[in-house]
Amino acid sequence: MRHRWLFLGACGWVLLILVFVTKIISHRAVDEYEERLGGQSTTVMGHTARKLPLPTAEITVSQQPDQSSAAPTMAEWDSVVEERLQLLSTVCKNSTLRNLTHIPISKFVLDRIFVCDKHNILFCQTPKVGNTQWKKVLITLNGAFSGVEDIPEYLVHDHEKNGLPRLSSLTPQEITHRLKTYFKFFIVRDPFERLISAFSDKFIKNPRFEPWYRHDIAPAIIRKYRKRHRDGDVAGSGLHFEDFVRYLGDVDGRRRMDRQFGDHIIHWMTYTELCAPCDIPYNVIGHHETLEQDAGYILKRAGIERLVSYPAIPPGITSYNKTKIEQYFSGISKRDIRRLYARYQGDFHLFGYPTPYFLLT
Ligand SMILES: *[C@@H]1O[C@H](CO)[C@@H](O)[C@H](O)[C@H]1NC(C)=O
Ligand SMILES: *[C@@H]1O[C@H](CO)[C@@H](O)[C@H](O)[C@H]1NC(C)=O
Ligand SMILES: *[C@@H]1O[C@H](CO)[C@@H](O)[C@H](O)[C@H]1NC(C)=O
Repeated sequence: MRHRWLFLGACGWVLLILVFVTKIISHRAVDEYEERLGGQSTTVMGHTARKLPLPTAEITVSQQPDQSSAAPTMAEWDSVVEERLQLLSTVCKNSTLRNLTHIPISKFVLDRIFVCDKHNILFCQTPKVGNTQWKKVLITLNGAFSGVEDIPEYLVHDHEKNGLPRLSSLTPQEITHRLKTYFKFFIVRDPFERLISAFSDKFIKNPRFEPWYRHDIAPAIIRKYRKRHRDGDVAGSGLHFEDFVRYLGDVDGRRRMDRQFGDHIIHWMTYTELCAPCDIPYNVIGHHETLEQDAGYILKRAGIERLVSYPAIPPGITSYNKTKIEQYFSGISKRDIRRLYARYQGDFHLFGYPTPYFLLT
């Protein structure tokens, strides 16, 4: 009898410690999410595919059709993806939104799309949703490197050398053929969360190897958009989210600046401008909020699930966080937020993200 109680007590301690460790790990993981997804954690395997872990009950996936905690079947996720494409097609036809949803398939768009000829895949890059990970997977599948771990970090984004060509590097006939026949996908997330993520990543954390955000882009935005009357609050203090919001919402005013900023603006351009979703017939549009399900689904639809696996995604990390959005937007004028929304509403409608009325009214 005594033994049993001792045993139970020991189990209790082990549980407590486990809970504690998990807390620490998932807390760290929030900060390191993009790096983790972009990091070394993918495994590309010969033929034994590891099953993606089931989503746990902790994940609170908002705005998604499927709220259950059990892993969806392929057929269930087929219908989720089909619904997304239906919505996209409906919104693309809405003439009121036309200039927010349609753009020419320009060189800029073709620059965003990466080609995996070995497996007939096209992937449009949309920053802040684990893109580095997908790029590494495709680089490996193209065969220039034998495993994801072998790809040097500096090569991931060097498309001259990494064996992952951009669609723009091909001839018009080659481009048309691939757009017609290849499996095409990209990933989106809530448009305002994406902007917050871009802001915090590029202007707050701003790693040393990307100095232009802090040294070139931030001062230019501050000069043009910061309200001057707040004395003692000039360029030295760094970009505020408020400055960023005013810049983003100023459709006409920011055009000349954006040309100077070059490709760096891909971090806050609309999904329409990056991937032309109304003009290119994509097969799957994954959602960051359900990345776990979407990643597994995309690998299967692309026919590569036996060759690669997507790394486990820490619970809760990709879910929509309304508190965070409210915090970032608190103190910013409704007028500025409405202008921002006007600029990004195409993305909200196309991908089924609900209008954030709690910020607009
Ligand atoms: C088109 O979009 C506008 C703006 O969001 C909306 O008010 C309108 O109801 C939409 N029209 C259709 C036919 O869905
Ligand atoms: C779209 O068109 C409307 C009216 O035609 C205009 O007010 C708005 O600024 C345009 N938006 C963009 C992003 O060009
Ligand atoms: C949501 O964001 C807030 C503020 O950034 C943070 O304190 C909170 O832990 C986040 N919630 C979740 C579930 O990540």
